[in-house]
Amino acid sequence: MCGIAGYIGERDAFRVVFEMLGRLEYRGYDSAGVACINKNAIHITKDKGKVAEVEKEAAYADSKVAIAHTRWATHGVPSRKNAHPHKDCKGKIAVVHNGIIENFEGLRARLVKRGHKFLSETDTEVIPHLIEEEYKDGGGTEAAFVSAIKKLGGSFAVAMLSDKENNIFIARHESPLIVGIGNGENFVASDIPALLPLTKKVIVLDDGEYGIVGKQKVVIKKINSGRVVNKKPKTINWSMAQAEKGGFEHFMIKEIHEEPQAVKNAIAERTDIEKIAKKLAKFPRIYFVACGTASYAGRLGRGVLEHFGVPSNAEIGSEFRYGTSKTIDKNCAVILVSQSGETADTIAAAKEAKKNGAYVVGVVNVLGSTLTGICDDVIDIGAGPEIAVASTKAYVGQITSLTLLGLFIAKEKGKLDVVDLNKLISKLGGVPEKISHVIGDKEKIKRLAEKYRNVKEFFYIGRGLNYPNALEGALKLKEISYVHAEAYPAGELKHGPLALLEKGVVVFALVPNDHLAKKMESNVQEAKSRNAEIAVVSEGGDIKVPWVDPLLSPLLYVVPLHLFAYYLSVSKGLDPDKPRNLAKSVTVE
Ligand code: AGP
Repeated sequence: MCGIAGYIGERDAFRVVFEMLGRLEYRGYDSAGVACINKNAIHITKDKGKVAEVEKEAAYADSKVAIAHTRWATHGVPSRKNAHPHKDCKGKIAVVHNGIIENFEGLRARLVKRGHKFLSETDTEVIPHLIEEEYKDGGGTEAAFVSAIKKLGGSFAVAMLSDKENNIFIARHESPLIVGIGNGENFVASDIPALLPLTKKVIVLDDGEYGIVGKQKVVIKKINSGRVVNKKPKTINWSMAQAEKGGFEHFMIKEIHEEPQAVKNAIAERTDIEKIAKKLAKFPRIYFVACGTASYAGRLGRGVLEHFGVPSNAEIGSEFRYGTSKTIDKNCAVILVSQSGETADTIAAAKEAKKNGAYVVGVVNVLGSTLTGICDDVIDIGAGPEIAVASTKAYVGQITSLTLLGLFIAKEKGKLDVVDLNKLISKLGGVPEKISHVIGDKEKIKRLAEKYRNVKEFFYIGRGLNYPNALEGALKLKEISYVHAEAYPAGELKHGPLALLEKGVVVFALVPNDHLAKKMESNVQEAKSRNAEIAVVSEGGDIKVPWVDPLLSPLLYVVPLHLFAYYLSVSKGLDPDKPRNLAKSVTVE
């Protein structure tokens, strides 16, 4: 949800921040812009469009300090005037912002009364005008910046340039912001991929902190007290190669090819998972909470526990925070699942659960993200940077971690003996090879996608542990192919949706070799009798998947669904990495 970049040092700042923006584009890509200081004046270049398009048209300005932004519109349509950076009346202050200023209407009305002229429809534009107003007190840039920030309600990650300063001023509240530490140069970014070729050392800003980023020095302070916070830089262990396409046409297909490795990486965290499972097993009530794809992983987590007779619940973050969270107390454990660790609704759910005394665990891909700072314990899925907006390898990593977690909890609760546990873990070790086998069949899936290129309606059906996969398959299709797709527990079709089935509708049926296979076969027949076209995913079906223990089948059965969504999107001439209207990290409510 918007990407922020900043640079100060000896390099060509204009070029550096545009390059950083290119690696943040998964956070939003409807407009982009840069502000830099050249000969003591602020120069802004911005427009509607993706980063590369804006960069092509941008007026180059020679500068050693710059801030930049790639936008995902909230307030105001994508346009040049709404693109960031925004400036004050005199053009002496430039601001980029990620988040939502909830009290912007009141602030704007007061500023207008004082004669400020607004040029955009954004909430962000109040910030430079507020700073301009605070400057009138004569306390200097830092004082003006901090007083303005204190007046903001809602969520923000902000970076500011003033023509009076050779520093970048930054602040955060509920939107991510990190500082990359270089040698005689420093960087500001929303997320790690922006920094990968530049530095491995980062300082993560926490909520309620602001910073002054100079060429040689970075000072972080508390917004409320002005107290200096001494923060040691952390070292990033992601590599640049992980954040590049590496010969693949899109990040999404590269990341699908990394699914076998995602399973291995998640298994590598087994010692931590086992430790956390021991703690979780003590709680009578366990909840999985997440959004989108991660919420389907949460449902799978619940399915694994239920398989062993351990009660649990799975909820969507935006619903949990205002509903179920009221019932949470110290007898509850809440497991938050999030690739980015920055999803606003998931973070809010974690905070509510914690406030109510629950034991809070994060299952996260980005260590150092906001969620990891809130949780009591964190399971690292270790999938590496996921750049495509559509989550694929992270989902596979999440369901691997949650399957392992479920097995260990079941063992702790006396529902699974050690011999069977070890057998299952050993079978899990064989899953990456089986996934590679499914990926090896991608040409067949590509042909299927070409065959179904003009289909307008898809259904995905599954039962038990594969119902979350049906949801995942349908979401992926909607997200990157813009085709309507619905997922149903197969037994539910006859309670209404069957009326929609007719010639021209395609039904994907997930039929692993488990105790529900016969029931699934009957549901497939019901759909066939209504003239729908059926694509069975099974050991001997239209899309073949190798045998796997039924408990581990979700890890394999989702792979063809990811491949199908990818190839359908490509066959329609779309960009699967950057679907319209979406952004990877959803940092607003
Ligand atoms: C997945 O393809 C989607 N882009 C989206 O549903 C995503 O999973 C969701 O926004 C949650 O993100 P998170 O895992 O970073 O919290």
